[in-house]
Amino acid sequence: MKGTIEIYRGNIVDVDCEVIVNAANSSLMGGGGVDGAIHRAAGPKLKEACKPLAPCPTGEVRVTEGFDLGDRLVFHTVGPVWRGGSEGEAELLKACYLHCLQELIKRELTTIAFPAISTGAYGFPANEAAGIAVHACREFAADHDVKISLTAFDEPNATAIQGALDQP
Ligand code: APR
Repeated sequence: MKGTIEIYRGNIVDVDCEVIVNAANSSLMGGGGVDGAIHRAAGPKLKEACKPLAPCPTGEVRVTEGFDLGDRLVFHTVGPVWRGGSEGEAELLKACYLHCLQELIKRELTTIAFPAISTGAYGFPANEAAGIAVHACREFAADHDVKISLTAFDEPNATAIQGALDQP
């Protein structure tokens, strides 16, 4: 594997990296959870920058500066709402990770921090989401020299992500 994948326990806004991924909704106008934390830390200019980029369809990504987050960019992606698992949720979640990683490479950047997309308000089970996240990141890191941080803000996600990373 060319790249690395690590777990980061804590607030995504504290990760030392070039890109912070936001688990947004399609309006890109902010919200609770990680979206709220990123908008608070970045300041009101972030919302202004998001306006012309909305709507963002599920599984896709939109890019803004980070404003008060410093030099870091924000990749806003929209995870799927969990509806039981038979409505393409897994594929859409994987698309979020891969589209962000493709955008990272396109911009010739290498370090990125992801939240556990969809596992909060959108209800995706933590274990299943962690498996998809780790699988998508491994697939990408096999061929690209990237440093990926998977952030775990709560204990269920920390256990789920560590468990997925421990699987060969
Ligand atoms: N840093 C890292 N992770 C965080 C933070 C933070 N500051 N705050 C919350 N989290 C974690 C939660 O513990 C959860 O595991 O992020 C994960 C994703 O939860 P949500 O933020 O609720 O995101 P999601 O499930 O994708 O729902 C998106 O919620 O905030 C709204 O506008 C957002 O409508 C959208 C929806």
